[in-house]
Amino acid sequence: VSVKPCRRFALPAGLDTPVPVVDIEVLDANVGRMAAAMKARGVALRPHFKTPRMLEVARRQLDAGAVGITCATIGEAEALMASGVGDVFIAYPVWASEPKAARLARLLDLPGKLTVGIDSLVAARQLANGLAGCGRSPAVLVEVDSGDLRTGVRPERAGELARGVIELGLVVDGVFTHGGHGYEPDCSDEAADDEVRSLEAAAASLRNSGVQASVVSAGSTPTALRSARGAVTEERPGTYVFGDWQQVMLGSCRSDDVALVVASTVVSMSVAGQFVIDAGAKALSRDRPLWLNGHGCLPSYPQAVISRIFDHHAVCQVPPGSAMPAEGDVVAVVPNHVCPVVNLARNVVVTRNGEAIARWDVVARSI
Ligand SMILES: Cc1ncc(COP(=O)(O)O)c(C=O)c1O
Repeated sequence: VSVKPCRRFALPAGLDTPVPVVDIEVLDANVGRMAAAMKARGVALRPHFKTPRMLEVARRQLDAGAVGITCATIGEAEALMASGVGDVFIAYPVWASEPKAARLARLLDLPGKLTVGIDSLVAARQLANGLAGCGRSPAVLVEVDSGDLRTGVRPERAGELARGVIELGLVVDGVFTHGGHGYEPDCSDEAADDEVRSLEAAAASLRNSGVQASVVSAGSTPTALRSARGAVTEERPGTYVFGDWQQVMLGSCRSDDVALVVASTVVSMSVAGQFVIDAGAKALSRDRPLWLNGHGCLPSYPQAVISRIFDHHAVCQVPPGSAMPAEGDVVAVVPNHVCPVVNLARNVVVTRNGEAIARWDVVARSI
C-alpha cells in the first residue's frame, strides 16, 4: 500500500503530551458531511459512540440529524441515556446475566428507547429471563453475518431466530449487520454489497416468518456511503467522525478530514536514524492491520515510520537525508485506529485554528 501525504495539524503551544487533540472545524465538517449524505439517500444515521466517547460529539451528531446513537457496551448506553440521549442501540450480542441484567433494567427505567442486538436464542432467553422481574424489555434487532464472520446468524436463519425471540415475549424491530470485512484495501465495495444483500435476505426471511423488519441497519465507515441503499433504512458508522490513518489508507476518508491527532514530544534522538516520541502504546494503542506499515503517520515527517512501539515510547525511523525534528519538539501523530486511542485518554484538547478552546471528557472508557 503506497504512503499518502497527510495534512499538517496546527497544535496549540503548552500541551502536556501525549494528548489527543481535536480540530473542531474538521470534526463538525465530518459530522455535517455524513449527516447530509445520509439525508440525501433517505437513510437514517445512528453513529457509533465507541469512536468519540464524548457526549459533546454525540450531541453534535444528534443536532445534525442523527436519529439516535449506536454503542457496543451497557456502560456507553448508561452514559448516553443518563445525559438525555433518548434512542440508543447496543449493537452487540448482549449477554444479560447479572449484574448486566440489573443495569439493563435500570436503563429501561429511563425515558427513551433502548434496543439491543441478539444473535442466538439462548442469548434472547437469557435477556427475557434476566429482565422478567422488571416488567420491561428492550427492543431487539437480530444480528446477521454479512461476511465478517464475527457475530450474527446467516441471513436465511434470521426469520426463525426472530420468531423464537418474539415467542419469548420480546419485540423484534428488524435486523442489523456490520461489514467489518471491508477493512482491507479494495474490499469496501464488495463488503457494502454484502451488507445490502445479506440484510435484504434477512428482512425477507423475517417477512416469511411473519415479522416485519422496520429497521434494516448496516454500518461501518468504509461501507457506510455505499451500502445506504435498497432495503437499508439506517447506517451506523463511527470512525468517520475523527478519521484515522487506516481510513485514509483505505480511501474512506481524506487526510484533510482527520480531526484527531495525538500530540507527542520528541524525547530522545540518541540513536542515529531515528527519533523517539512519548506517545507509546498507552497513547496510540498497538492496533496495526497487517497491510499497514508502522503505528501511525507523522504529517510533519512523512518519511518517518513508527516502526516500534512500547508502552511509553514510539520509535520513528527516518531514511537518511530526510528532515528530522529536534529534542523537545511537539509533533502530531495520526493514529492507525482512533477508537482505542480515545478510549485510552481521560480527556482531549479541543482546538479551533490551532488554539485550545476546551477540554472534553472521555466517558464510559473500556466497559
Ligand atoms: C456493530 C458495529 N456497528 C458499527 C460499527 C462502526 O464501524 P466503524 O468503526 O467502521 O465506523 C462497528 C465497529 O466496530 C460495529 O462493530
